Amino acid sequence: MLSRHVTDSLALIRTPFYFYDMELLDATLRSAMREAGRYGYRVHYAVKANFDPRILDRVRLAGLGADCVSGNEVRAAAEAGFDPRSIVYAGVGKSDAEIEYALATGIGCFNCESSQELEVIDRIAGRMGRRADVALRINPDVDPMTHRHISTGHADSKFGISYLEIEQVADRLHTMKNLNVIGLHFHIGSQITQMRVFEYLCHRVNSLVEWFTARGFRLSMVNLGGGLGIDYLRPEEEPVPGFETYFALFEHNLALGEGMEVHFELGRSLVGQCGELIARVLYNKTNAAGRQVAVIDASMSELIRPALYGAHHAIENLSNRNPGDQGVFTVVGTACESSDVFLREVTVNTLRRGDLVTLKSAGAYGASMASRYNLHALPAAVYSDDL
Ligand code: LLP
Repeated sequence: MLSRHVTDSLALIRTPFYFYDMELLDATLRSAMREAGRYGYRVHYAVKANFDPRILDRVRLAGLGADCVSGNEVRAAAEAGFDPRSIVYAGVGKSDAEIEYALATGIGCFNCESSQELEVIDRIAGRMGRRADVALRINPDVDPMTHRHISTGHADSKFGISYLEIEQVADRLHTMKNLNVIGLHFHIGSQITQMRVFEYLCHRVNSLVEWFTARGFRLSMVNLGGGLGIDYLRPEEEPVPGFETYFALFEHNLALGEGMEVHFELGRSLVGQCGELIARVLYNKTNAAGRQVAVIDASMSELIRPALYGAHHAIENLSNRNPGDQGVFTVVGTACESSDVFLREVTVNTLRRGDLVTLKSAGAYGASMASRYNLHALPAAVYSDDL
């Protein structure tokens, strides 16, 4: 990825830090918008993937809306200049204060996850003299065939309104006078690489839209959420994900009424490949099991995905480019946790103290999930167009 072409500049910066390839970001956004645009689809960016202000700025300039899951994300999107009507707000636990703030900001839509939440929004909107546009987030019970920690659309999940309850919810909605039900919302999981999962989703969506329409709901949009996966194993081979196939699949499988808008909320596929975590090798040692351990100066505090999900982020030694000088290493972080291991037994150009390394595909759910565990400083961001 780009870091190998600008290693001399990166070597001057104090590690660890996130490095963003802004050209790749722009190319990715352009591709997503072009492919979605073929069918008139709208794309919102899932701010949770990365709320870096420079990234939000590029996303806004590329013409996407913002998908938020907290009052603070709504605020970040509004401050980044997103048109409030292009902001949607999902989340299983919206507080009263967050709902009030989002209503006052004039956001485009609340994606609602329970009948009780609908009642609360109805009450608050009434008190504020407003009407709220809402979409019902239905849990369609589709297995996304991904890691269980990032599956959201199966029957036993905390997300969305159970499809078993829609009848009850539909009846109660008629009494909520401060809500406009404009559509249905779905999000079944993340890092989905098996495209047939999205086909199943389309079939469920078609029948749910039909069900609501038959009950007299005049829906004007469906939101299919996000979830498109990226290639963590070989990021160089597909730096821009396959948006063409992805959007064409929906075009092929959705059977919706005329004039119905189709929305998406993509996170990882838009920003995942443009970010890398740059670190330095601190120490080498051999443990009692005979494994060569390389300790780098990053940890789960800066990038938690390997510790939390066993996620794979490909490593490259930026300082040692000699293909004849390789070894097998277990690459670990500095945090006082046994799970703070980036890669086990990976073959990589020999890692020596002081070498600069990159952990790739870290643009999504990297910086945004960083913590101050062990009192580490939050990682800095470096942008390619500043070098
Ligand atoms: N919409 C909703 C309602 C979501 O909950 C999510 C992600 C998205 C859209 C965007 O999904 P994406 O296109 O990024 O797959 N921290 C985990 C991922 C959690 C995803 C949470 N929801 C990870 O690092 O893999």
